[in-house]
Amino acid sequence: MNEYWSGRFAREGMIWGSEPSPTALVARDWFSSEGVQSVLVPGAGYGRNTKVFSAAFGTWGVELSEAALTLAREWDPLSHFILGSALDADLIEPVDAVYCYGVLHLFLEEDRRRLVESCLQQLKPGGLLYFASFAAEDPNNGCGRQLEPGTYEYKQHKYAHFFSDADLRAQFADTDILGTELHREVLQGVLGDSHEYLLRSITARKPRYAALRL
Ligand SMILES: C[S@@+](CC[C@H](N)C(=O)[O-])C[C@H]1O[C@@H](n2cnc3c(N)ncnc32)[C@H](O)[C@@H]1O
Repeated sequence: MNEYWSGRFAREGMIWGSEPSPTALVARDWFSSEGVQSVLVPGAGYGRNTKVFSAAFGTWGVELSEAALTLAREWDPLSHFILGSALDADLIEPVDAVYCYGVLHLFLEEDRRRLVESCLQQLKPGGLLYFASFAAEDPNNGCGRQLEPGTYEYKQHKYAHFFSDADLRAQFADTDILGTELHREVLQGVLGDSHEYLLRSITARKPRYAALRL
């Protein structure tokens, strides 16, 4: 995974341009209305989305690729970037909210579970989660070799999980789910290309009293 992304960041730089995902703006406004002061962004890439949050909150980005972080530190000097895996993030202080875009769908089932669990561990009780990942309605769903239910190698050496509504809700079963939404996004590449994606977001809250759920 690291080799693939580092190679792309080193070759293509700011792969999806400098504009944030519209979902980052929605999440920022929601976080603001809830009095959030600190945000974790797992799989922060080169910081196009962290910049939205670091202008308003204390922001920590965890990212596996050194090449991405070299770009991120320049593009978004206000965020605190940590080189490492979001699957076992270990912040000094828990945060009020997590925003995660385009990362959860990169993993097979076991690591998707680990990513959500790791994010919940970094979050304060009552903290907020906003995740956006590929939707089952995306045209790439079902293309190529199936690795697991809902997970396809849709390009050579590149696979993703495509979330139905029920599937995404099941992934966040340990949280209080507030809602899900389908998004159509067009990403303009630096090379002049553009790609349309269908994403599904979920908003959720970490339970305040974990013991009550046992
Ligand atoms: C599709 S990109 C999205 C980047 C960023 N969220 C954005 O929207 O611009 C996925 C990112 O996740 C990073 N990544 C993959 N596995 C990771 C892991 N285990 N821990 C942290 N970052 C990871 C990749 O290096 C890459 O930057």
